[in-house]
Amino acid sequence: MAWYKVLERVELSQPFIKKVNAGGKNVCLINYNKQVFALSASCPHAGADLSQGWCSEERLVCPRHRYEYDLQTGKGAPGQNDYVKTYNVKVEGTDVYVEITRWTDRLKNWIT
Ligand code: FES
Repeated sequence: MAWYKVLERVELSQPFIKKVNAGGKNVCLINYNKQVFALSASCPHAGADLSQGWCSEERLVCPRHRYEYDLQTGKGAPGQNDYVKTYNVKVEGTDVYVEITRWTDRLKNWIT
């Protein structure tokens, strides 16, 4: 696992939804109610860019068909039967990091 710095000198008092790259993955970074969340940027329904969506009641809403995903768990709203991948986030000062598990880490865990 590795931490990737995805934002520098960010103003965390302002809400935002941005697409960032962390270790080669497109990640949707969301600052909602002064808490930062990281989810896969690709909607599992039909691949829309979730960073073009918006937040409603602790959920990220997809801009294409309005499916909704929990910011903490990535679970789809009841009845959707899907989810988006979530990533760990840490904030150090005004810098934001996202943790990505590389395939080599998964391979090491699988072998040992
Ligand atoms: S592409 Fe996201 S809900 Fe359909």
